Amino acid sequence: MSPKRGELPVFDLTDQGIRLLEEERRRIARDLHDGPAQTLTNLSMRLEVVQRMFQTHPEWVAAELERLNAHARTAVNEIRRLIYDLRPVAIDEVGLLQAVAELCNRCSREWDLPFEFTVAEGVHTDFSPAKQVAVYRLIQEIFHNIRKHAAAQRVQVRFSRTGCLLDVWVEDDGVGFDPSAVPVGHYGIIGMKERAAFLDGNLEIQSAPGRGSRFHLAVPVYPES
Ligand SMILES: Nc1ncnc2c1ncn2[C@@H]1O[C@H](COP(=O)(O)OP(=O)(O)O)[C@@H](O)[C@H]1O
Ligand SMILES: [Mg+2]
Repeated sequence: MSPKRGELPVFDLTDQGIRLLEEERRRIARDLHDGPAQTLTNLSMRLEVVQRMFQTHPEWVAAELERLNAHARTAVNEIRRLIYDLRPVAIDEVGLLQAVAELCNRCSREWDLPFEFTVAEGVHTDFSPAKQVAVYRLIQEIFHNIRKHAAAQRVQVRFSRTGCLLDVWVEDDGVGFDPSAVPVGHYGIIGMKERAAFLDGNLEIQSAPGRGSRFHLAVPVYPES
């Protein structure tokens, strides 16, 4: 399969890792572009109008400045959120389970959406911190999609174990979608599947319009017994 535009060709596993990192950067660049950069561009254009109307319509200007200030605060919050999401997670200190529990709490609080997090017996996180971080990032992106697209009332997150596999289930009761018909130009899910495959794992999505969505990530992390 030939690579899509701007995508690096891949010859070996190192190339694949590098390409996945580049994809991640591309996504971050787009988030910055669609979020704060657009808010600030809009702010700047409206400030030019304020400048012109300053003498002639002082009352309108006063009200507009208040609105613009709210926009500026929005941009600051968007940037703070992006910075927070990019922050390295202290997985080696707290472990994957604790980190995901904290992520659930934070998303629940900020998005005003109940998250339920359960861990089945037999799950432990004695596997490599780098793999734990990769799993954490996948979960984080699934949560972001829920926030952006699902209009859900609640989210359920469950960790379990099947033999050498760590299973992560994330389920929302939102609007659902057809996973086989993701519109062109959206690379989030494709990237997540690639990252799961890079971990020798698999990301499976069950969803249909009106039926919520269920994400199942399975990654081999336990020694075979
Ligand atoms: N939890 C979800 N609930 C409903 N729709 C979803 C969910 N996750 C993803 N989608 C749909 O799948 C599409 C592709 O997602 P993704 O590849 O992450 O791209 P993006 O988030 O940039 O749109 C989204 O545009 C959305 O329509
Ligand atoms: Mg997405």
